[in-house]
Amino acid sequence: MIALDEHAKRPEFINVRVKRQDGPGKEPYWQLFKIDYEPELNVITVLQRIAALGKDSDGKKALPVCWDCGCLEEVCGACTMVINGRVRQSCSALVDRLLQDNPDELVLEPMSKFPVIRDLMVDRSRLFRGLKRVKAWVPVDSYYDMGAGERQLREMQERNYPLSQCMSCGCCLDACPQYNKIELERKPGESDEDFEARKNEAYDKAFVGPHAISQAMLFNNHPTGKALAGERLDALIEPGGIQACGNAQNCVAVCPKEIPLTTSIARAGRATTLHTIRKWFEK
Ligand code: SF4
Ligand code: SF4
Ligand code: FES
Repeated sequence: MIALDEHAKRPEFINVRVKRQDGPGKEPYWQLFKIDYEPELNVITVLQRIAALGKDSDGKKALPVCWDCGCLEEVCGACTMVINGRVRQSCSALVDRLLQDNPDELVLEPMSKFPVIRDLMVDRSRLFRGLKRVKAWVPVDSYYDMGAGERQLREMQERNYPLSQCMSCGCCLDACPQYNKIELERKPGESDEDFEARKNEAYDKAFVGPHAISQAMLFNNHPTGKALAGERLDALIEPGGIQACGNAQNCVAVCPKEIPLTTSIARAGRATTLHTIRKWFEK
């Protein structure tokens, strides 16, 4: 943790450069804002100050910047954006620390691998589609009380807990060189359902992503979740599965929850190899 120098000179203003986009498929552009310095701001507060200001650094009228957020405590993952070139959560990005690294300005951009809805808000539905592809859940067949579940060994709990902290933020996907942006345009007259189906078809052919591989390993190691282990491994063998990972390890370097993604990927590699051999003998 960087210690803040209490005696360092504080700036009078903060320059904030924001990459804006008025809607899906529109040309992005940069806008500069100047806000009064206050101690202990986070990036979300900066965006709130910009909205209250209503003008850019030249004094021209400016619409509030659009962004997404939920929990404001690095749990929901919704506020993820690229801040001074690094993908991270805007609720936990402290301005005093950012100014220590770059005293001139804050630069805010939307994540690069997801379609922009507006300004800093992106469509992360492909991320959730990836989780659906690997059935990242514990199956239940009813909501009746069925008694206590199977006990988990301590060793298993210790292996699973770090993986269970994934907040579906998308940092690992934004940093992964194998996860390429997919952005489809709606065809004239295309219904919501048809557009959704076309998007899902495109998503399902592309790399599923390290977050989904890791969640597949989490649920395959769960006493009830393992009922779907074979189906998850089948999904990871398909095109866009584990073999699409180039092992560049960018994902693990940016995960805010420090999830051991490359360990999960290695584990998934071994599990899918065994699964394929087993299936081959069962033919
Ligand atoms: S290790 Fe695989 S998933 Fe992680 S960044 Fe590299 S290519 Fe992407
Ligand atoms: S694995 Fe880490 S970086 Fe990726 S979505 Fe989950 S929390 Fe975010
Ligand atoms: S608002 Fe939930 S992680 Fe930032």
